Amino acid sequence: MAFGPKMSLSVGDLTIELAPLTKEAMGEFVVGMGQHSVTKYINRHLAPTLEDELEWFDKTRIDKTKIVWGIWAVKDNERVLIGNTALSEIENKHIRQATSGSMIFRKEYWGIGIASHIHKARTWYAFKHLGLHRIRSAVINGNVASLKALEKSGYSRVYVERNTLFVDGELRHQDNLECLNPASSFWSDWWHGERPTAQALSARDRTREAMKWAEDNVNLA
Ligand SMILES: CC(C)(COP(=O)(O)OP(=O)(O)OC[C@H]1O[C@@H](n2cnc3c(N)ncnc32)[C@H](O)[C@@H]1OP(=O)(O)O)[C@@H](O)C(=O)NCCC(=O)NCCS
Repeated sequence: MAFGPKMSLSVGDLTIELAPLTKEAMGEFVVGMGQHSVTKYINRHLAPTLEDELEWFDKTRIDKTKIVWGIWAVKDNERVLIGNTALSEIENKHIRQATSGSMIFRKEYWGIGIASHIHKARTWYAFKHLGLHRIRSAVINGNVASLKALEKSGYSRVYVERNTLFVDGELRHQDNLECLNPASSFWSDWWHGERPTAQALSARDRTREAMKWAEDNVNLA
C-alpha cells in the first residue's frame, strides 16, 4: 500500500493526477508547509525541513495502514506537485473504515475546484476499489473550503468537538464528519435494521452522485 495507484481527472484546463510522491519532489512540501496560511487548520506549528520530509517519505512508503497520493497539476507538459491526499488509519475489522485528509500547499491552486474533484475520486476509490464502509474526516470551524468540498462527496457532520484548536486568535470547534458507502450491502451492514437519519439519506444521494461523476470522469490507470 503506502502510495495509491494513479488516477487522473480534469479541473478546467488542468489535468490533475493523483499519483505516488517522489523523493525528488519532497522539497515542495518544505516550501508549502512553511506557510501559516496553509497549515493553520491542520494543527501544525512547526515548518518542516527537507530532512523531515524525506524521513516522512521513507516512513510513508512502507506504511501499510495508509494510502497516500501526491496531487500533481499538469499543464502544457509541466507536472507540478501541489499537495497530497490520503486515506489513513485503515481498519479492516467488522467495519472497514479509514480517515481522509488533504492539503494543497500551493495557494495559487486554491478555489478552482481541485479539492472538490479529488475528494470524489478518493471516495470512489475507497468505496468501489477498497470496499470500505465508511470514511471519517474532521474540519476545524472556519475552514469553509474544506467543509464544502467534503460535503459535495456526501460527508456529513456526526458531532462537534468543542475547542480543539486555537486559530488566528480564537478557540475553534471541530466538525467530525463521516461519509458512508452508499451501496446496499455496505449500507445495510452499517445500519443493520436501524433507521438512517434524514441527514444520512441526503448524504447518501450526494455520495452516489459523486461516485457516478468519478465513474464517468476519473481515469484509474
Ligand atoms: C481546504 C482545501 C483542501 C480546499 O481546496 P480547494 O481546492 O481550494 O477547494 P475547492 O476549490 O474545491 O472549493 C470548495 C468550495 O469552497 C469554496 N471556497 C474555496 N476557497 C474558499 C475560501 N477561502 N473561503 C470560502 N469558501 C471558499 C469554493 O468556492 C467551493 O465552494 P462551492 O462548493 O460553493 O463551489 C485547501 O484550501 C487546502 O489545502 N488548505 C490547506 C490545508 C487544509 O486546510 N486542509 C484541509 C484540512 S481538513
